[in-house]
Amino acid sequence: MTREPESRPGTTIYLYELAWILPSIAIPVGMLVALTVTAFGAGIHLPGVAGRVDPRAVERTPRFNEPGVVQVGPERYEARMTAQIWAFAPREIRVPAGSRVRFIATSKDVVHGLYIPGADVNAMLLPGQIASVEARFDKPGEYPVICHEYCGLAHHTMAGVIIVEPRP
Ligand code: CUA
Repeated sequence: MTREPESRPGTTIYLYELAWILPSIAIPVGMLVALTVTAFGAGIHLPGVAGRVDPRAVERTPRFNEPGVVQVGPERYEARMTAQIWAFAPREIRVPAGSRVRFIATSKDVVHGLYIPGADVNAMLLPGQIASVEARFDKPGEYPVICHEYCGLAHHTMAGVIIVEPRP
């Protein structure tokens, strides 16, 4: 009595198993490759932590004692911002089109968010921690600055604006 090897039920099960096992290895490997390429090749990182600050002394800490925008180079600006319930300081920022803006921000009280739709800005503002994130503003217009971490009763009203002015 002989049986054809390919008609054995065990072989079919083995092939099905293989059809599931191979993608389950290939998918995480693919993700790891994508992560490596974006992090080291394209230089995409999470918003950086630029240091620590005493949350009770934010107003006396250099850079945060005078929230605002300063020019730090040709077409380069630094926006020093603080967040507190329920406002950003400064509420309004003006830069010319084509500017690169580094946001240096922290919270004076609870966890807030710093989210600018239309720009590459999406960071958490934690008390005691300084967040640093950079974005380029090429298109003139108004960009809303939104707190996207729930921070209490008037969280939904917490917003600011970036006005990108056309170059003369
Ligand atoms: Cu601040 Cu929500």
